[in-house]
Amino acid sequence: MCGIAGYIGGGDSTAIVEDGLSNLEYRGYDSAGVAFVGERLTVEKQTGTIDGIDIPTNNDISQGIGHTRWSTHGEPTDANAHPHTDCTSSVAVVHNGIISNYDDLKAELGGHVFESETDTEVVPHLIEEELTAGYDFVPAVRRATDQLKGSYAIAVTHADKAKLVVARQDSPLVVGHGEEGMYIGSDVTAFAEFTQRVSYLEDGDLAVIADDDVTVYNDGQQVSRPIRQVDWDTSAAEKAGHDHYMHKEIHEQPHALRQALSGRINDLEGTVDLDIDIEGTFGDCEFVEIIACGTSYHAGLCAKRFLESHTDLAVSVNIASEYEPAHPHRATDTVALAITQSGETADTLAALRDAKAVGMRTVAVTNTVGSTVTREVDESLFIRAGPEIGVAATKTFVSQVATLTLLAVAVGQHRGTLSAGEATDLLESVQALPSAVQSILDTEAEIRETAEDHADGEAFFFIGRQLGHPVALESALKLKEISYDHAEGFPSGELKHGPLALVTPNTPVIAFLTDATDPRETLHNAKEVESRGAPVIGLSTLADADTYCAETIDIPEIGVLEPMVANVAMQLFAYHVAKLKDRNIDKPRNLAKSVTVQ
Ligand code: M6R
Repeated sequence: MCGIAGYIGGGDSTAIVEDGLSNLEYRGYDSAGVAFVGERLTVEKQTGTIDGIDIPTNNDISQGIGHTRWSTHGEPTDANAHPHTDCTSSVAVVHNGIISNYDDLKAELGGHVFESETDTEVVPHLIEEELTAGYDFVPAVRRATDQLKGSYAIAVTHADKAKLVVARQDSPLVVGHGEEGMYIGSDVTAFAEFTQRVSYLEDGDLAVIADDDVTVYNDGQQVSRPIRQVDWDTSAAEKAGHDHYMHKEIHEQPHALRQALSGRINDLEGTVDLDIDIEGTFGDCEFVEIIACGTSYHAGLCAKRFLESHTDLAVSVNIASEYEPAHPHRATDTVALAITQSGETADTLAALRDAKAVGMRTVAVTNTVGSTVTREVDESLFIRAGPEIGVAATKTFVSQVATLTLLAVAVGQHRGTLSAGEATDLLESVQALPSAVQSILDTEAEIRETAEDHADGEAFFFIGRQLGHPVALESALKLKEISYDHAEGFPSGELKHGPLALVTPNTPVIAFLTDATDPRETLHNAKEVESRGAPVIGLSTLADADTYCAETIDIPEIGVLEPMVANVAMQLFAYHVAKLKDRNIDKPRNLAKSVTVQ
């Protein structure tokens, strides 16, 4: 995730902003930059680490903003790094989030010179337009941000103004109140070493920050945001207060999902725009061969269900290390779809090269702009989850599935195989995901108790049907990789064909009982294990699940994607089982985040 740090006041501005950026390094980034105001505006930025930035040393500097960038629009290049400036080099802007209408805004800004491929760069030029029209700095920023759609935390500095202006919509921004000046940060970590007196901005806020006070406006009215004293352990800062990156990343899922969806759904028309060439890629193909490993493979199994239910395509899902092109003689009718969070997995890249070699069109669904996979495929579709540091994939899995759901809608609509009603159901479900996931995160205390009750199980079995099946596989993978317990996922109906022999009173069975996954059938399978003494934990939208379940975790009703919400409950379950066992959660034994060997 991108990070913002800023300062205005009598302290050492350059050192404070540089320290702020260092404190934000834990968020992951591929480029960084700063803008300082002294006698003039100085901007320094580049790909790579903060250490490489040429921080100015002049002592007339009284304010500055800085940014660590994780690429979402445009490759990680020096030009795409923030801050971005206007044509007069008077205004500098850093931004977290995604401006979904930047294409339209850019088209309206004819005559302005753009130097990057980013969505952010429209902002300084919009501000420049308003300044040129005669508005003062603060109203100019307000008029510019009023035109933005999407999510943003923005900080703006001006060569001639002794103030910073910041604005927030769906992306966090905090203000630090110090003895010698005011601080800004995308989270408290940015400035906690200097002050722990903090006010949190809310959506729609625009704040004017001088060296000794802040004035906040919302919807044109002055509002007050209370100053709170936070008790921030700076040694835990790099994980933003969480004990593990995995825990932090589980909790980032509502935000990651909003980023995955931002600007991609046209609610009025019920359509999807994904920034890839749907006609050229999927217009006349017949087969899709999905290639992936591990968690990404499970996302591929979900994608197969959506693509086959809503298009006329024949879809296979292939473990990358086992892949052989299935229709080499029909390669020109086939799309190879590689799903890879990192974009660097050797097995996936090798399989993709095999697909390319026989002449298939290629698409990557990835989290990593500029990764190897993006350089080798015809089209890249980004999941926009932000960096994931824990070895266990969490937020990237839900972001993959959300993005692939949108892909199925786009392809189904393009091929005329998806009805308006089906599109509405899918889009409503995917748009309900962020809040539904948040509601599960809010029940973490109860899920932790469930983990405490069952952590001593000899083995754990996860059962589900339809979309509940890949999610059962993913939940089992999560538990086994971080707790080192034996865990398996099965289609519910398969239990009686063999695995039931493993079931004992000491093997908890977790059943996915959500609406669109034949929950009544799975409930019958739960009965089979319950009658053999195994405790059943139901992840359920059913009112009567407790008939056969020793415990139930209620899943909010959001339609077809309910299993994805249940998956989040199982991420927390796995996390707490592993924590109770004192496992190395972020770096489980024998595993690596990015597997770059075959
Ligand atoms: O980067 P990729 O998505 O290509 O990685 C594939 C697998 O190595 C990965 O999904 C792995 O299974 C997860 N880290 C497990 O949590």
